[in-house]
Amino acid sequence: MKDTIRQLIQQALTRLTDDGVLPAGLTPAIQVENTKDKSHGDFASNIAMMLAKPAGLKPRQLAEKLVAALPADASVSKVEIAGPGFLNFFQNSDALARRLEVALADERLGVRKHGDLQRVVVDLSSPNLAKEMHVGHLRSTIIGDAVARVLEFLGDVVIRQNHVGDWGTQFGMLLAHLEEKPASAESELADLEQFYRAAKKRFDESEAFADRARELVVRLQAGEPECLRLWQRFNAISLSHCQEVYERLGVRLTPDDIRGESAYNDELPGIVQALRDKGLLTESEGAQCVFLDEFRNAEGNPLPVIVQKAGGGYLYATTDLASMRYRSQVLKADRVLYFVDQRQALHFQMTFAVARRAGFVRDDTALEHMGFGTMNGADGRPFKTRDGGTVKLIDLLDEAEQRAYALVKGKNPELPEEELRHIARAVGIGAVKYADLSKHRTSDYSFNFELMLSFEGNTAPYLLYAYTRVASVFRKLGREIDEIDGSPAPEAEQELALAARLAQFGEVLGNVAEKGLPHLLCAYLYDLAGLFSSFYENCPILTADTPARQQSRLLLAALTGRTLRQGLELLGLEPLERM
Ligand code: ARG
Repeated sequence: MKDTIRQLIQQALTRLTDDGVLPAGLTPAIQVENTKDKSHGDFASNIAMMLAKPAGLKPRQLAEKLVAALPADASVSKVEIAGPGFLNFFQNSDALARRLEVALADERLGVRKHGDLQRVVVDLSSPNLAKEMHVGHLRSTIIGDAVARVLEFLGDVVIRQNHVGDWGTQFGMLLAHLEEKPASAESELADLEQFYRAAKKRFDESEAFADRARELVVRLQAGEPECLRLWQRFNAISLSHCQEVYERLGVRLTPDDIRGESAYNDELPGIVQALRDKGLLTESEGAQCVFLDEFRNAEGNPLPVIVQKAGGGYLYATTDLASMRYRSQVLKADRVLYFVDQRQALHFQMTFAVARRAGFVRDDTALEHMGFGTMNGADGRPFKTRDGGTVKLIDLLDEAEQRAYALVKGKNPELPEEELRHIARAVGIGAVKYADLSKHRTSDYSFNFELMLSFEGNTAPYLLYAYTRVASVFRKLGREIDEIDGSPAPEAEQELALAARLAQFGEVLGNVAEKGLPHLLCAYLYDLAGLFSSFYENCPILTADTPARQQSRLLLAALTGRTLRQGLELLGLEPLERM
């Protein structure tokens, strides 16, 4: 509906520009908001206030001209001018009811696949295999997964790419350690963090070990079978740790989605050569660099993207250039989304620029860095264990489930043990994921078990519970939530407010897909759950005064339940029938 209103306003603006009321060349961002008080209409826009000045009119005068220029539309019943010049739009309740009827009769809740379907590559998770996955990868994994699910729901072809760090000099040290004590290494590898520390200790202590590590890197790079075998064994174990985390999280990532840094090794000399051929390379202190005029340091000198070190080694950026070329040319991506820490923003701005200049990516491939902020501890500092170590993801998830178990058992001691465990898993894991997804992607946030497991506020338990409330209405009536359709007739204020919000599901998903911001969906579901609560308190369903009213309210409840359930699934949470 907001999109419809924005389009109507846009048409009115064009008309007024043609008539000379507005100066040509204005491209205002048209804002349309939900109103709080529905007696003033359902949606409001401040566009007349924004453009009064360039038009040389008073806001109310411009508002009047806009109202006169607005094309008629079946979904709008009237438009009023309010206060200093707000345009208030009243939604046509018949049109609204019809929309809800369509949604109820449709598995996709009336959400149409969006216009031009795209091939979207999503770069997500991408941990370094030398170490255990840490909280930074949690954010990339779950935000990337949620956005990928929404894109898929809207009809895009999504290609997930897990760009794992499976190459680099630290592997020499790890392989040397693996080779030295194959027997105990096996058990040490159960804990990568420990294995890494032990290898590092050997490296620092023993000259001979360090030499061996360096030698192994060279032999690995030369592709010696014995080394490759060690390396593959190490990676297989590390990847199995990752897969365990993905499964625990309920994230859709499989071994097929892995295309690690090493997959691009053979292309790296060609990348450097192509840059040289294009005249983009400059040698600086022995290293091969691309200097970019538009990126400068504090002294005003252009910053380089280094693609080959003085010793001949390649870098993170070189691999990324190769992967950009692959994604654009081979995977034929229309969009490539990088869910990577915000601190790598400059890396992506610069490598995107080099990839474009070198012609590695097609003009119609959009490259978008979807950066995210840091997950901090309750103290507001980067998340660490008490002794300052990195927190292993798997431990964090264990604790979330244990806490959820205690919580759910406290509320519902009589539930069978197996169901309790199932609920604890959905609530615990869901809480961790939702706490992250509900924050604006680019802001930092503090990880806090108490807050995320609270049944109040914008949390997973609150939303999962909201869905179970709807489900229980249907259980009590012996009806199926998915098997009821028809045309609701919202009358009461709470019914109308809920109905109008339900009709916005598709628009919200469109925004999540376009901007890569899952918190928009969280905020929508939270709002919906709140609207459902006031509807449920004020408009009794089980004891409605007429059968027609009961049916209409049941329809609203069914659509609310199905929208909550679908929304939670798109966020990667598991809805529960009871808890
Ligand atoms: N492995 C990197 C890290 O842990 C993230 C890789 C992200 N993807 C990419 N194409 N650079 O920081």
